[in-house]
Parts: sequence; C-alpha cells; structure tokens
Amino acid sequence: MNDLQSFGPNIWTVNGDDVRMFGVLPFTTRMAVVRLETGGVWLHSPVRPTPGRQRAVDRLGPVEHLVAPNKIHSLGIEPWQALYPSAKVWASPEFNTRHPDIAVDAALTNDAQAPWRGEIDHCTIDGHGLLDEVEFLHKPSKTLIVTDLIQKHEVAGETWIWRTVKRMAGVLGEDGGTALDIKLSVRDKAAMRQSVETILSWDFDNLIISHGHCVRGGAKEAVSRAFEWISRT
Ligand SMILES: [Fe+2]
Repeated sequence: MNDLQSFGPNIWTVNGDDVRMFGVLPFTTRMAVVRLETGGVWLHSPVRPTPGRQRAVDRLGPVEHLVAPNKIHSLGIEPWQALYPSAKVWASPEFNTRHPDIAVDAALTNDAQAPWRGEIDHCTIDGHGLLDEVEFLHKPSKTLIVTDLIQKHEVAGETWIWRTVKRMAGVLGEDGGTALDIKLSVRDKAAMRQSVETILSWDFDNLIISHGHCVRGGAKEAVSRAFEWISRT
C-alpha cells in the first residue's frame, strides 16, 4: 500500500492512525508533506512514523522540517525527531508552554523568518482562547493547510452516536467546518477575524485538513463558508 497520496505538485498527504479525542471521540489523522525547492522535505502535523511511512517520505528527499501547527498536535514530533535528528522543529507560539519537554527550534510567530518563505506562507490565528493554530499556504499547488480549525469528519465507518455528536458539533461530512467548542472559545473576536481575513486573502484552490475530507478545487468558497461564523459577525 502506498502511504503517500499525491495532492498536487510537490505536495502529498499521509493518513495516520485514528486517535481518540478526550479519550473517547474517534478522529482520523493526516499529515501534509511538501518537497521544497531545495529538495528538503517539510512535514506538517506529522502522524506517527511507521516503516512504510518512513520509506515513502525518504523517497522524496531528506526530512528537514517538522511542523507542530498548534499546541495540541504534538503526536509525531518526537518520533520523527528521533529518526531525523538534524530536522528543525517549528511549532505554534504556545506549543512549548504545553510541551516543555519537546525541543523546538523556532516558534512560528507571524514574523518568523522561515527558510521556506516564498514557497509556503504562514499565518497564526490570533484571538483564540484554546487554539494557537498556524495555517499555511503552499503556493505552488495553491493549497491551504489547516489543522483543527476546519474539520470534516468522514461519515463512513462512524457509529450512529459519534455521527450524531459530530453533526451537532458542526464537523461531520463535507459540509463540516469549525467545531462548536472552538467557536465558543474565542477570546478576541476582532483579532481572530483579522487572522481569518488574511487567510481568505490568500490565493488557494485546494484544502488539506488533518481530520476528514480534503477539498480539491473550489476550496476558497468552502473555506469562506466554513469561516462565516467569524468573518461575518
Ligand atoms: Fe486535531
């Protein structure tokens, strides 16, 4: 089985193992993989490595960057760090507060001078009380990469109870969007709206998310709709 799924020029996804949010709620997981112009490989929200996943990534080039896009998504950072000790770890602004034991090379604040700028833009979502998420735009493939702020959990294989919970939370299926608990945890609405406007001003047509359905083509409209709750209030 091929662990890498092509998503466009120099960008792939790799599905990870399912996890249980809050110990019970089933989540599928996914990482995004980009091959930079330098030939180096950039892993976004790495899922746990397996020999198959490692072989697939190795075929692309040397792993140079590991990205923890919010303080919750720490799962695969240390295992990949152990496999590729020279890779740099880039993390969301508050990641180290929650994970002081994980070595981070640089925080992805908006003024961070990341070596991949020009190919990948990034923007931190300000004004949220729980999530310090950093979103990314892979310019060559016009792909927006979002972690938890938009979720579109698969319906297939889901039990009735979890389908109901996820539907009520607003994250079920292709029409999913921002989870209710995330909507209810905004600290500074104006600041968050400004961050979302920055993202919506980017030139993208595709969307990779960590949990659920990705979008190929027409993603600007889908993302605008998913963010209406903050952009139009
Ligand atoms: Fe997540």
